[in-house]
Amino acid sequence: MRATPLLKILRDRMRASGPLTFAEYMEACLYHPEHGYYSRPEVRRFADYYTSVDVHPIFARLLARQLAEMWEVLGCPSEFVAVEAGAGEGRLAAEILNFSSRTLPEFFRALRYVAVERGKGRRETLEKALATHIVTGSARTSHELPEKIAAGCILSNEFFDALPVHRVVQEKGQLREIYVVEKNEGLGEIHEKSSQSTVARYFSQQNIELQEGQHAEAGLAACAWMGDAARRLDRGFILTIDYGYEAQQLYSEQHRRGTVMAYEHHQATEEYYSAPGEQDLTAHVNFSALDSLPGIALLSELPEKKLQRTGLVSQTAFLMALGKRNEFGDLYDAGQSEAEQSSARLRLKTLIHPEGMGEMFKVLIQHKGIESPRLTGLAGI
Ligand SMILES: C[S@@+](CC[C@H](N)C(=O)[O-])C[C@H]1O[C@@H](n2cnc3c(N)ncnc32)[C@H](O)[C@@H]1O
Repeated sequence: MRATPLLKILRDRMRASGPLTFAEYMEACLYHPEHGYYSRPEVRRFADYYTSVDVHPIFARLLARQLAEMWEVLGCPSEFVAVEAGAGEGRLAAEILNFSSRTLPEFFRALRYVAVERGKGRRETLEKALATHIVTGSARTSHELPEKIAAGCILSNEFFDALPVHRVVQEKGQLREIYVVEKNEGLGEIHEKSSQSTVARYFSQQNIELQEGQHAEAGLAACAWMGDAARRLDRGFILTIDYGYEAQQLYSEQHRRGTVMAYEHHQATEEYYSAPGEQDLTAHVNFSALDSLPGIALLSELPEKKLQRTGLVSQTAFLMALGKRNEFGDLYDAGQSEAEQSSARLRLKTLIHPEGMGEMFKVLIQHKGIESPRLTGLAGI
């Protein structure tokens, strides 16, 4: 256990107001304004983790092609708002904008990119990364989603896995919530009846019954975020790339210990309390839950949301379908040597290989205000 500045703050808070839900603990570890892992600039990127965006620009380029097709499906509106949630320091945003301006000029004229990032330090770097596009009005940054999106797409890569989750365990036939408490010099856990009925409803609504001793997570914040995003979107799509499963697989025997992981120096452990604020904490995404407000209704049934599922595919299927169109011609840049081209091909393999990122990551697309759209990225369904 490392005595981080956040550890002291959390222990003082527990002394004043009692145990924290794991969701409250995770929220503080990742987003405490001063000591949260994501509140600081990305100095530790690559030391702790990397994402598809870092592997090769082809990832962003194929996403740009999918966005351009969405724009066409929506009837080529004069403004297409692409809102990226959790844009980090802007690697994906910058490549989507640069590639579109070079290769998809008509789409680029309509493109208004809003890079949304909660962390102040990251937003400052984001602004620098997008500076040339901000000056011309093609992009802007924000700490929150736009209130109204007339036509466009809300997209994200590895955003939902960084939202706080409640943790539960099935004990003596009862669902117990895991709370974080002070223990010795550090932190520990207690299991108690949940103070929120939504946690139990999250599981019952998806027909999930946990086995005795099974741990699991309820991603209430992810569902609330999706409901809010659906309300703000008038016509268009929500495209989510992340690792995770549909509920039946996520809560199966295979994940009996749950899926929360603490990451530091590329090591994934269950030592969630060993360095509060200095480790990345993540949980697999429950893609089934992103179609509903747990305990309330499916998003497709709520009048002001009306969000329908277009499809869910593996990252492999998504990138293959989009790349095949021009035989992955977007992989190369002008003037590259044979060695550089061969390195690009290897990197593509990391993105699409079933044992690499390809099958672990999924692409969920949902739509609103448009009838049964057909998208190339989902052609593999
Ligand atoms: C795992 S990182 C992924 C960053 C980037 N998308 C990538 O692929 O490298 C998650 C990011 O989401 C941001 N984030 C979390 N909650 C957010 C929210 N409600 N609004 C905007 N950004 C948020 C975090 O600050 C963090 O930068």
